[in-house]
Amino acid sequence: MMREIKDTTTTRNPLRQNETYLLELLERRWSPRSFSDEEIPQEIIVEIFDAGRSMMSCFNEQPWRVIFASKADSHYNKLFDCLGEFNQQWVKTAPCVGVVLGKKHFTKKDKLNRHRFYDAGAFMAASTLRATSLDLYVHQMAGFSPEKVTENLQVPEEFEPITMFVIGKKADPEQLPEKLQKQEHKKSDRNEVDEFLFGDPWGVPYTSSSKQAQSEK
Ligand SMILES: Cc1cc2nc3c(=O)[nH]c(=O)nc-3n(C[C@H](O)[C@H](O)[C@H](O)COP(=O)(O)O)c2cc1C
Repeated sequence: MMREIKDTTTTRNPLRQNETYLLELLERRWSPRSFSDEEIPQEIIVEIFDAGRSMMSCFNEQPWRVIFASKADSHYNKLFDCLGEFNQQWVKTAPCVGVVLGKKHFTKKDKLNRHRFYDAGAFMAASTLRATSLDLYVHQMAGFSPEKVTENLQVPEEFEPITMFVIGKKADPEQLPEKLQKQEHKKSDRNEVDEFLFGDPWGVPYTSSSKQAQSEK
């Protein structure tokens, strides 16, 4: 049975007009493994990736491509088969599966696009936040065989599979194998900003080496 997907980004939602809206989305997003098999309407999938479309990319190349399959689609198994065993055990309950691919060279000049992964990541980040706004979750996966994707889906040589993903509604973690149930409740750690935002020399936090910090001493 298909339930209605709630769009919390409508103008009726005061958070939309509020500067905390993005922060709330960032806070809400995480990567569950326990997915409901409730099908996601095609127009919602399009809306999610329409948000990714807005992202910046090197030379505006937009090197990302996505192959997507809902469980009802005949190519679903071609994608599912590419996942590693670990991922298959929890992806099987999700209503769909997809893969993000990158175009290797710039279209307007025959040069390798070193930034294709960066751009595809930005695309997926925006798409993921749009999904979050619709009360949906995206879980991305490196545990798959890019070679199998290329073979099963007849991907042209110019494109390479980067990450697989699922999109769906969260379900009761009890449907997961016991080991995964424990991880499902875990909020993942994050580095502090000072651990990656540097000034000079390398490794010294920007907040203690900047001009502003010096003048405050
Ligand atoms: C590129 C990428 C690859 C990932 N690969 C896997 C994977 O193969 N299997 C899996 O269960 N989770 C995978 N994850 C999920 C990460 O483990 C997860 O995003 C990370 O622990 C942070 O947790 P959070 O997304 O819940 O905040 C991947 C995430 C990304 C972005």
